[in-house]
Amino acid sequence: MDKSKPIIISLGGSLVVPNGGIDTVYLSGFNKFIRSKIAEGWRFFIVVGGGTLARHFIDAGKKVIGELTDWDLDWLGIHATHLNAHLIRTIFRDIAHPRIVENYKKKIINLKQPIVVAAGWEPGCSTDYDAVVLARDYGASIVVNMSNITAVYDKDPKKFPDAKPLNNLKWSQFQEIVGDSWKPGSNYPFDPMATKLASGLKLTVYVIGKDVENMGKILDGKSFSGTTITP
Ligand code: UTP
Repeated sequence: MDKSKPIIISLGGSLVVPNGGIDTVYLSGFNKFIRSKIAEGWRFFIVVGGGTLARHFIDAGKKVIGELTDWDLDWLGIHATHLNAHLIRTIFRDIAHPRIVENYKKKIINLKQPIVVAAGWEPGCSTDYDAVVLARDYGASIVVNMSNITAVYDKDPKKFPDAKPLNNLKWSQFQEIVGDSWKPGSNYPFDPMATKLASGLKLTVYVIGKDVENMGKILDGKSFSGTTITP
């Protein structure tokens, strides 16, 4: 893997806030891992998702008000990503760029720090899409999607116990699996809007679980557990 390009990590909010509480044990391991890789010369953009924080606020809005527009639901999710991203930015405050990317039109020029933290932007997508925008704007060729989804399966593993993980997929095959419409708070391995953009940019996306050692194997060019999606 090429160290001259930044690595974009789409860090699922489910890893930061799994069940409403913050997973400090996971975050401690993530902190150590990222710092060890920076010592080896890697640079990262870390886009942080909303996890259960987003889903709790989205569900609460629906419960109290009844029907809410997708626009309103997405904004609740976006604010959740902002809070989680502030936590990640604080963890890396000594080495991260001081501004969290929340407006993707304002490009960072003269980037000096080895880490940039980013969060949700506009309604209509998830932070997976934002990760792809960063890859486009900062010259990355891979996005690593870390979440509680360990791979792309041939069918939903929560509903079908015989679902099989798929190790290699083309973008066209993956788009068929995720479809092409967006629903606020939905939980895709990689969101349909992000899929369209990543496919057009000819990116490679790795869908892996939460394990940082597994992530390290991708950087080292070793075999890892998860799905690789390529043009
Ligand atoms: P996430 O990126 O966390 O989505 O954004 P997710 O699909 O729940 O991903 P995981 O499970 O954390 O990995 C949470 C919600 O925030 C809104 C969407 O409603 C999304 O579902 N959002 C996020 C946006 O509308 N725009 C963005 O740019 C980012």
